[in-house]
Amino acid sequence: MVTVTGRHEPAAAVRPAFDPDRVRADFPLLSRSMRGRSLVYLDNAATSQKPRHMIDAIHRYYETLNANVHRGVYQLSEEATAAYEWGRAMVARYLNAPSPAEVVFVRGSTEGINLVAAAFGRRRVGPGDEVLISAMEHHSNIVPWQMLCEERSASLRVIPMNERGELVLDRLPDLLTPRTRIVAVVHVSNSLGTVNPVAQIVEQAHARGIPVLLDGAQAAPHGPVDVQALDCDFYVVSGHKMFGPTGIGALFAKRAILDAMPPYQGGGEMIRSVTFEKTTYASIPMRFEAGTPNIEGAVGLGAAVDYLHQLDWEAVARHEADLLAYATGALSAIPGLRIIGTAANKVSVVSFVLDGAHSHDVGTILDQEGVAVRTGHHCTQPVMDFFGVPATARASMALYNTRDDIDRLVAALHRVREVFPR
Ligand SMILES: Cc1ncc(COP(=O)(O)O)c(C=O)c1O
Repeated sequence: MVTVTGRHEPAAAVRPAFDPDRVRADFPLLSRSMRGRSLVYLDNAATSQKPRHMIDAIHRYYETLNANVHRGVYQLSEEATAAYEWGRAMVARYLNAPSPAEVVFVRGSTEGINLVAAAFGRRRVGPGDEVLISAMEHHSNIVPWQMLCEERSASLRVIPMNERGELVLDRLPDLLTPRTRIVAVVHVSNSLGTVNPVAQIVEQAHARGIPVLLDGAQAAPHGPVDVQALDCDFYVVSGHKMFGPTGIGALFAKRAILDAMPPYQGGGEMIRSVTFEKTTYASIPMRFEAGTPNIEGAVGLGAAVDYLHQLDWEAVARHEADLLAYATGALSAIPGLRIIGTAANKVSVVSFVLDGAHSHDVGTILDQEGVAVRTGHHCTQPVMDFFGVPATARASMALYNTRDDIDRLVAALHRVREVFPR
């Protein structure tokens, strides 16, 4: 059989320790020019660039393995199924899930949260109950719970944050009430960069018998996750933010919970038997994967994770911490620039506002200099309201960014200052 990655030995055996310049060479798009200059890509929290390893795996999949999965008795379908399930096993390993059966492929974090709110939440949450989220959630971890609360006459409660953008956990014991049915909290904030002490939240919730969902969309791109150490009940990730393809993500859920959960959607692939009188459902994880799945996405995400597995993550963490410190120092020195989100524990994300210049104007001028950052509310309007700003500009760094990228950002911001003097 042709392997998806095109090799049989583990990736770790063929690549030496982490080197940002070498890593950059693995991401073809980073060598593009933009507006006559080399591209500086600092919008990784929105979506990351892709390693050639992943692009090649998808290419190879279509050239050598393409067939529908889980239904063919012929060899090609069996090979396609093996590739799809290989992707699941790779994700399970990256999340340290006890088994691949506890990993459900979804479209992304948004669909993973909606799945849990619908299939788990509808049964668990009733009139007068409470769902607890935090003040720094992405809309994807607010709206599905709000919809559930409306439907079930329950209420949404919120863990507050402080001026640095850190959760005020002193309030947690009061917010975890006998009516709390589920806690859903972001592991790493996309607009502030804050890394939340989620293991502590899980521990306190579990002490009261309350299950916890963690939104790991922004955590997984910064290193492997250990769902067993976190002891969370649910964990969601988006493939496209962790160097994989768009349209694929994963929901981890503990086996006992998944086993007891009803399906999310009905259709092919998720059944055991169907008659007009009654349908019985497949076992996990297939029960939650109705219809022909995103096979190419699973293969691509598996290959992205295969690529990530071979990195020296301690070295990556040191590199990203250096980028964060360097960017924080350099941006703070720009007159009139205010950083939004100054938590003690952050990933390499820096949101900021520049007095006298709207964030969209900042983004447009940076683009003219070949620097790509995100501007807007970052799907976290309550965070913007809390800090009293309509929008921020956000530079989000990934493992392939360098100090040179930050220097280009800073030079471009000085250009903004010239256009919009204080
Ligand atoms: C923290 C967080 N949660 C959820 C999402 C939603 O991810 P997706 O759009 O891939 O479903 C995002 C996307 O920006 C995010 O940053």
